[in-house]
This record gives sequence, structure tokens and C-alpha cells, in this order.
Amino acid sequence: MVLQKLLCVLVFLLICTSKAINPEAEALLRWKSTLIGSTKSLSSWSIATSTCSWFCVTCDAAGHVTELHLPNKGLHGTLHAFYSAAFQNLTVLNLNSNNLVGMIPANISLFLTLAVLDLSYNNLVGAIPYQLSHLPKIVKLDLGNNHLSNPEYANFLPMSSLKLLSLANNNLSGAFPQFIINSTNVGMRSLDLSGNTFSGPLPDSLPEMVPRLRCLNLSANGFFGS
Ligand SMILES: *[C@@H]1O[C@H](CO)[C@@H](O)[C@H](O)[C@H]1NC(C)=O
Ligand SMILES: *[C@@H]1O[C@H](CO)[C@@H](O)[C@H](O)[C@H]1NC(C)=O
Ligand SMILES: *[C@@H]1O[C@H](CO)[C@@H](O)[C@H](O)[C@H]1NC(C)=O
Ligand SMILES: *[C@@H]1O[C@H](CO)[C@@H](O)[C@H](O)[C@H]1NC(C)=O
Ligand SMILES: *[C@@H]1O[C@H](CO)[C@@H](O)[C@H](O)[C@H]1NC(C)=O
Repeated sequence: MVLQKLLCVLVFLLICTSKAINPEAEALLRWKSTLIGSTKSLSSWSIATSTCSWFCVTCDAAGHVTELHLPNKGLHGTLHAFYSAAFQNLTVLNLNSNNLVGMIPANISLFLTLAVLDLSYNNLVGAIPYQLSHLPKIVKLDLGNNHLSNPEYANFLPMSSLKLLSLANNNLSGAFPQFIINSTNVGMRSLDLSGNTFSGPLPDSLPEMVPRLRCLNLSANGFFGS
């Protein structure tokens, strides 16, 4: 009798937990539903299975999504529906080499745990949201090879955790960005500003920065001076 009751409770719990849609799963499926054309590469993304078993999704021991690695998966659409407060533990968002269009929503900067944001090789347009510079743990920020234009540089904060920054091959112009000079005081290792229309002299502090850098690419710009 006791065993029977226990079994009943167990079955009830199983049904209940399998029916309750995990908010992270819900958020990912909502974004997937906004993508255009084939999402064949995301066919494993379905409520029938646990989010942690989905293609290109990594979870922590508690079952929260920590990493999304989706480079070169033929994804076409915007990032407008991507942000959800459900992602409390997301550290890596890699969507490089897809066909993302539209602007980068400022609310991507609300992923406070993000260490890697790679949106390179897409077709993103508009100003880079300055809010991205407020990501407190960002280590790698790669926005290269899009069609992005000047952010409100004055609102950019120096990113003290940043090690790699690429803004290469976009539509950026003006003087060498001051926030980069301020960011590189610490751990910057790789900086790629190539293929824009930056102009003017290089900052006086660049020579101090260079020995710490493993990669510096300023080619295909309008910089001048010594
Ligand atoms: C995130 O920003 C985009 C673009 O501004 C907006 O369409 C979307 O509703 C925002 N998401 C949330 C959850 O606020
Ligand atoms: C996930 O995020 C929550 C909320 O911020 C936090 O309490 C928890 O410790 C995080 N889990 C891990 C494994 O970092
Ligand atoms: C490039 O950026 C400038 C502003 O800095 C803007 O006026 C222009 O429309 C942008 N061009 C493209 C193709 O996005
Ligand atoms: C960069 O640092 C200098 C001196 O520390 C400061 O005056 C300036 O406002 C900072 N600029 C930015 C964009 O962080
Ligand atoms: C530097 O940038 C240019 C233009 O984006 C590119 O063609 C070149 O391969 C880069 N060089 C290195 C060493 O990465």
C-alpha cells in the first residue's frame, strides 16, 4: 500500500516535471521560431528532450544553459527575440558565420555572466550598442565582418576584463577609439580594427600597449603619422 502510494507520487512528479517547460528552453524555442528558412541544424531543439541534450547547447551541473556554440549553422534571422532573463548562467554566445541581420539589441548586454560574445561574419547593421561595454565579465568580443557603424563612443566604458577585441571589416570611422586605449591598460592580447575607415594619428600610448599584444591589426584604415 505504501509502495503503491509512493509509486503514485513518483509518477505524478515525473509527469509534472516533464510537462513544465523550462524557461531557458522556452526562450531558445521562441528565438528559433523567429528564424527564417531552414532551421534543420536545430532540429534537436524541441520540448520533447532536455535542453541540455540539444545540439550545440552546453549546461552546468544544475542544468542551466552556460554555452551556445552555433557557428556556421546556416541561421538566418535577427537577435531581437534572443534576450531572456531566463539565461542566468550564459558564459559563451558564439553565433559566428551565420546570416544574422538587423541590429544588435542592446539587451544582449544584460547577460551579465557573458565572457565570450562572437557575432562575427554575419550581416548585422546599425550602431554597436555601447551597452556591450558594460558586460562585466567579457573576455572576448568579436563583432568583426559585419556592417556595423560607430557606437556612441563617449558612452563606452573601458572593458577591464577584455583580452580579445575585433571590430574588423565594419563601417567604423573617426579617431582611434579612446575606450580601447583605456581598456588595454590591463589584459588585452589581441586587437583587430582592420578594414574600417578609422583615421587620424595612432595614440601616443600605443607603443606601451604593443608589447603585451600578441596580435595587432590596424591595416586597411586611414591612420596616418609615425
Ligand atoms: C530586446 O531588444 C529587442 C530590440 O530592441 C526587443 O525587440 C526585445 O523585445 C527586447 N527583449 C526583451 C525581453 O526585452
Ligand atoms: C547560475 O545563476 C544563478 C543566478 O545568478 C546563480 O545563483 C547560480 O550560482 C549560477 N550557477 C552557476 C553554476 O554558476
Ligand atoms: C556607415 O556609417 C555612417 C555613420 O558613421 C552612416 O552614415 C552610413 O549610413 C553607414 N553606412 C552603412 C552602409 O551602413
Ligand atoms: C580614458 O581614460 C582617461 C584618463 O584616465 C579619461 O580621462 C577618459 O575619460 C577615459 N575615456 C574613456 C572613453 O574611457
Ligand atoms: C589584417 O587585416 C586585413 C584586413 O582585414 C587582413 O586582410 C589581414 O589578413 C590581417 N592580417 C593578419 C595578420 O591577421
